[in-house]
Amino acid sequence: MSDTGGAHKRVAILISGSGSNMVTLVKSMTGDHPARPCLVLSNVPDAGGLRKARDLGVPTAVVDHRNFKGDRAGFEAALNTVLESAQPDIICLAGFMRILSETFTAKWSGRCLNIHPSLLPKYKGLHTHQRAIDAGDAEGGCSVHEVTAELDGGPILGQAHVPIQPGDSADTLAARVLVQEHLLYPAVLHRFASGDITPVRLP
Ligand code: GRF
Repeated sequence: MSDTGGAHKRVAILISGSGSNMVTLVKSMTGDHPARPCLVLSNVPDAGGLRKARDLGVPTAVVDHRNFKGDRAGFEAALNTVLESAQPDIICLAGFMRILSETFTAKWSGRCLNIHPSLLPKYKGLHTHQRAIDAGDAEGGCSVHEVTAELDGGPILGQAHVPIQPGDSADTLAARVLVQEHLLYPAVLHRFASGDITPVRLP
């Protein structure tokens, strides 16, 4: 399913885990979609998403962060070497669990997206669902945003809202939010790859 022609935007997807968002992105890039996947890159050698990407016919690569202990610059240089050889027009972070430096985010500025499981600007960082429940929020959700030097802080390109139900745990809420992530990220990528940065709102 990787790109063979020159007419489409090339999309590299960075993962660390199961890659369910990556799968929905790859599967969305068919037909008259303006983009095609060119690479799935993981910092975790045994990430479940790598096998799924190969099964979908997308080239894969691994840059293991554990080989760069205390050397973020070295890790990011290795990431950039792999990315540059794939020549992406757009990078989608999809469950990529490494913090990226300003050097990296500036290099790919305006071309790098991330999905985060909260209604940003609320709950940047980790444990988003538990924090929303603990705060007594009526809803949680997810956001796709441009990646900038500020963690989870770039311009918002789309959000999906998910009501919090009585008795919700972080796990039950996360499961319902993930369903929306799988709708939101492909919708935002399609719009972004078409050159339109008007925010998407779901449902
Ligand atoms: C998603 O909830 C994403 O928002 C978060 O990590 C999870 C990744 O899941 N950052 P997957 O690897 O796409 O299945």
